[in-house]
Amino acid sequence: MKLSIIGTGYVGLVTGACFAEKGHHVICVDNDSAKVKVLRGGGIPIYEPGLEELVSSNVAAGRLRFSESTAEGVASSDVVFIAVPTPPQPDGSVDLSFIERVARDIASAMTSYKIVVDKSTVPVKTGENVTETIRRYCRAKVDFDVVSNPEFLREGFAVEDLMKPDRIVIGVGSQRPVAAMREIYAPFDAPIIVTDINSAELIKHAANSFLALKISYINAISAICEASGANVQEVANGIGMDTRIGRRFLDAGLGFGGSCFPKDLSAFIKIAEQLGYDFRLLKEVQRINAEQMDRFVKKIADTLWVLRDKKIGVLGLAFKQNTDDVRVSPAIELCQRLLKEGATLRVHDPKAMEKAKAVLPPSDKVAYVDDMNAVAEGCDALVVATEWPQFKKLDLDGARRALTHPILFDGRNLFDVKEMESLGFIYKSVGR
Ligand code: UDX
Repeated sequence: MKLSIIGTGYVGLVTGACFAEKGHHVICVDNDSAKVKVLRGGGIPIYEPGLEELVSSNVAAGRLRFSESTAEGVASSDVVFIAVPTPPQPDGSVDLSFIERVARDIASAMTSYKIVVDKSTVPVKTGENVTETIRRYCRAKVDFDVVSNPEFLREGFAVEDLMKPDRIVIGVGSQRPVAAMREIYAPFDAPIIVTDINSAELIKHAANSFLALKISYINAISAICEASGANVQEVANGIGMDTRIGRRFLDAGLGFGGSCFPKDLSAFIKIAEQLGYDFRLLKEVQRINAEQMDRFVKKIADTLWVLRDKKIGVLGLAFKQNTDDVRVSPAIELCQRLLKEGATLRVHDPKAMEKAKAVLPPSDKVAYVDDMNAVAEGCDALVVATEWPQFKKLDLDGARRALTHPILFDGRNLFDVKEMESLGFIYKSVGR
């Protein structure tokens, strides 16, 4: 099919590349001309495993191209996907002005029937507003359908998640766009749920909030484990084997971050409030997440006593593994808290060092270290802040010798407690 995707961020670019890989003809549109130039030149503005290869092979095959013009995208496709940012506002609600702008642009470019699909994460009832906006601004007075088709990809695994989805959710206001939507997703071989637009929009917020709730639940359990001498990983394994619960998203740590969970929780709480429901359960999820970081910082401070002028090595800056994204990263927040207490940092991340430099304050108190095995040099303690799997291969003997005293705080439970202790570390992790 002929498709256009408006917005080439994480969702838009990966979606466009995967649709092209499945044989559709895709035009990816972005109003940022510098970004379009980079993409046309074969560059990829984000780090996402497998994406570069997918983009270049599909560009070469003539199925994927880039443009700055929404009008060109609309003219050359039957289905137009909206994948623009919906950034958070100070009161917790989301800024829908990019969605509204794109809806107007699409409306004024339409000269024949189009299916307009919202892929961006939006509060329930946004589809109704998009429909009304297109109706108002479409001069050609042609038919159109608005569809909600939320995206469930995780950063760092985006290509994998998109190519092998658990399910496809299609929210429609009439049956007319259903056949085309099914045709687009037929090659993905995944269960398709067709529902009304409001339910589709709610599915996205409800799914992300539930996953965040799962993480806060295990983080709350981790506090009880610490107080009682139990082991949170054993508890997670034990409850996770109940198929009604499942083991995934039960890893205790520094709490969740990133551009999705914190924002989606706030947005869901806000839209619930506007609809007359006080979502106290989700407010507690947020509170537990904030406390988890407080408890970890306290653990470091209690052990090192005074943090002023202590040198601390930090492994990990990205909000999670496999990404260079540092937006709302717990690792960055931890660095900021340690710096505020007067500590000096030696930091390393396999992919996120450049992006971290832009968000951490420029300071002679932060040294960016290229080799993870060199981070511990001269430090008073080492901290693991992101769950990069390669950190498990850290030269622990070397780290112990390089530290002034062998103290390791593991905010992601990457190492084995007994092994660390037998290696001579004072080892403090989460909930164990
Ligand atoms: C999330 C959803 O998983 C995805 O379906 C949605 O489309 C977008 O939001 P993402 O933000 O990319 O994806 O990352 P995810 O892998 O879900 O991790 C989010 C945060 O939770 C990270 O900070 C991660 O470290 C943390 N996390 C995850 C835990 O602390 N424990 C876990 O068990 C899992």
